[in-house]
This record gives sequence, C-alpha cells and structure tokens, in this order.
Amino acid sequence: MSLLIGLFDSGLGGLTVLRQVHALYPHSRCLYLGDTARVPYGQRSCADLREIAAEVAHWLRQQGVGVLVMACNTSNAVAFDVAVAEAGVPVLGLIDSMAAEIRTDRVGVLATPATVASGAYRRAIQAVRPEAEVLEIACPSFVPSIEAGIRDGAELRAAARGHIEPLLAARVEAIVLGCTHYPMLRPMLKELVPVGVRLLDPAAAVARRLGPLLTSLGDPSERESQGVPLPPPMERTRFCVTGSARDFAIAATDWLGSEPLVRSVSLHSPVRGF
Ligand code: DGL
Repeated sequence: MSLLIGLFDSGLGGLTVLRQVHALYPHSRCLYLGDTARVPYGQRSCADLREIAAEVAHWLRQQGVGVLVMACNTSNAVAFDVAVAEAGVPVLGLIDSMAAEIRTDRVGVLATPATVASGAYRRAIQAVRPEAEVLEIACPSFVPSIEAGIRDGAELRAAARGHIEPLLAARVEAIVLGCTHYPMLRPMLKELVPVGVRLLDPAAAVARRLGPLLTSLGDPSERESQGVPLPPPMERTRFCVTGSARDFAIAATDWLGSEPLVRSVSLHSPVRGF
C-alpha cells in the first residue's frame, strides 16, 4: 500500500500544491486538510499559528500520514519546527524547496503579512545565495478575495499593482508567489509584470522534492502501479475541512476540475476510513 501524503493549508491555497503533486505522482494517495474554520492564517499572531500547526500536524499523524507537505507558507514560515515535532514523519516545506531553486540575486516575494513579518523567505534565499537582495511584500487582501471566489477585478488589480510596483522599482528578476493561494491569481498577475520577470511557484519546487523522499521511504506506489489502471488522483484523495464541507467543495471545484467529496472534521477527534 502506498504512503498517505498529508497536505494542509488554511483553505483553498494548498490545492495549488495538491495539483502539482497529482501531476508529478499520479499514483499517489493524498489527504488534504483545509483549516477553513480559521482562514485566513496570514493575519494571525506567531503564537496562534504555532498552536494551530501543532494541532493540525498531530491530527494528520493520527490519520496515518507517512509524509507531511506543509502546503501553507505562513505555517511553514513560523511553525516548521512545530510541524516536524508533532507529525512524527518526514515534513517538507515550501520555503526551503523554493529557495534551493532560486537562480537570481534580485528576488521579490509576495506573501501574507505573517510570512513577510517572519522574514523566512529572505533568510532561506540568502542561506543559499548570500548576495541575493530579497524584497518581501505583504498582500493582505489576496487570500480573503480568493476564498470569496474573486480572482480578478478592478479592486484586486489595483491592490496587486500597488504590491508589484516596489518590486519592479527594485528591478527584481523573479517574483516568488509566497502564499499557496496566489497561483490562483496567476492569469491576472502575469498581465501586471513585464515578460522578463518570472513568477515562481514554490508548489512546483516542493512537489519535485517529494518524489526522492517517497523513494527513500520505500513508497511502492509509482513502482507497483506500472501498467495497472488506477482510479484518477482525485478519487484517491480525501478532502477534509474544519469549516463547511459544502462551501469548500463548491469553491474548490473550478481549480480541481471536478467537485471533490469533502468531509467536515474536528481536529480533536480522528476520522475513520483513511
Ligand atoms: N495559503 C497560505 C499560505 O501559503 C495561508 C494564507 C492565509 O490563510 O492567510 O501562506
């Protein structure tokens, strides 16, 4: 039986990571937790975020995940150590994964207020590229808009222009989408940055690191399934949320391409059937 891959985020954002995992590892088995009762994470205090990460990682451990992917930059920025301590299985983060793939010394980062306040991206990038100049900008309205189903429009564009302007003035060559919700705004953001400036998605970077980790853990899913027809990744993924299952299922449908079956759960009790 293949390892169960646990992924979590405050809401819809982690689905951008899930999509990359499905694309690279079509035979994987995933459990996605959206902590929608507490979205957005980005305006919360560090103490609050660390407590939440402990609860979430502990719950995922109870469900039997064999590896944990933090599909949330905010949690990754301030509580990676907490997740490692509570999960009891290998944990992959977006921030280190992205930093390892940066190929320029002029980098912009768009992220939540909590991620920017932590300075985690700057530290991680400068750890591998000490000369790099890293400019981090908080985008407080992005996550609430995306959760409300708004991915473009005059107000959002004006906010985005305001966030991108200082990055372009600093002549960045790449902009990291440092919140997993933001790739959902990519069509709009692409129109606002010059062609020479790359938009980097840490979800792709963390998904690339997952394969070697699964292999090192002896995960048989890709090997054993050669030639054996399996249900599509969506059918082998379990979706859980701490808020309304119905609302999440509807909101997630266009990104996932079909309506997911979603369960509403309490993080204080394990769920049967994974
Ligand atoms: N998608 C998450 C992140 O990557 C959390 C956003 C939020 O809830 O504010 O930072």
